[in-house]
Amino acid sequence: MFNFIKTPVFGYLLLASTLLAASPANSKPVKNIVLVHGAYADGSSWSRVTPLLQAAGYNVTAVQQPLSSIQDDVTKTNAALGQIDGPIVLVGHSFGGVVITQAAYNNPKISALVYVAAFAPDFNQSAIELIMKYPIPPAAGSFVTDSQGRQTLLKDKFVQYFCPDVKSICGVLATAQGPSDQGRYIYQSGPPAWKQHPSYYVVAGNDQIINPQLEADTAVKIKAVKTIKVAGSSHAVLVSHPQVVADIIMEAANAKK
Ligand SMILES: *[C@@H]1O[C@H](CO)[C@@H](O)[C@H](O)[C@H]1NC(C)=O
Ligand SMILES: *[C@@H]1O[C@H](CO)[C@@H](O)[C@H](O)[C@H]1NC(C)=O
Repeated sequence: MFNFIKTPVFGYLLLASTLLAASPANSKPVKNIVLVHGAYADGSSWSRVTPLLQAAGYNVTAVQQPLSSIQDDVTKTNAALGQIDGPIVLVGHSFGGVVITQAAYNNPKISALVYVAAFAPDFNQSAIELIMKYPIPPAAGSFVTDSQGRQTLLKDKFVQYFCPDVKSICGVLATAQGPSDQGRYIYQSGPPAWKQHPSYYVVAGNDQIINPQLEADTAVKIKAVKTIKVAGSSHAVLVSHPQVVADIIMEAANAKK
């Protein structure tokens, strides 16, 4: 009955293909989407993307991050992932990209990663190292530090730099921004999950928080399956162009790993 397994190599191949076929990330359609917001933000960053995904039948979770450290954010994200059977598309905006790069590592429930104007550091790389390779973004110098050492982006500067293309709601986002620890800039990434999972990227063409060229180069570095550049978009591309962001997330969910 097993005489077609002629060599150990064939045996391994057969075993490998059986395991792949049986793994949850490959056999079931992706119904779960977990959204991770960035720094100077909160879960409401996703308030325009979420209903589009829900209307398409997805089970959406927007993680509310403590922003006290990358490690704390990863712990919170892992807790959310732990609640869900999988397979899962994990999405990160901005500093959320650093978080998903850690949280999805060696997690077999993850079927794809989507980076939205996000950092995707390599092993041992920090966000500041990436930022310093490019001209300093316009928003630098517009941050204030509170008595606990947490940073916020000044409200008027927030409207100027973070979401100038969605002025109607930008003031709301500015008031809801979570004060963020400064250590996240020098946090060195662990082994990156984007080397393990198919990844997608959205470049915000007129981003004044993260250099758009850094974003475009990041998409190349992580060998993104698909990259969309939204010309003229601010850093808040998920708020100003929610359909574009929802569409690439759904494309990632529909793709076979
Ligand atoms: C939907 O996501 C929640 C977590 O937000 C999880 O508890 C639940 O099990 C998920 N539902 C399905 C059908 O996977
Ligand atoms: C990352 O840093 C650790 C500790 O310094 C080192 O052992 C390891 O070789 C580094 N890995 C890479 C890929 O740079």
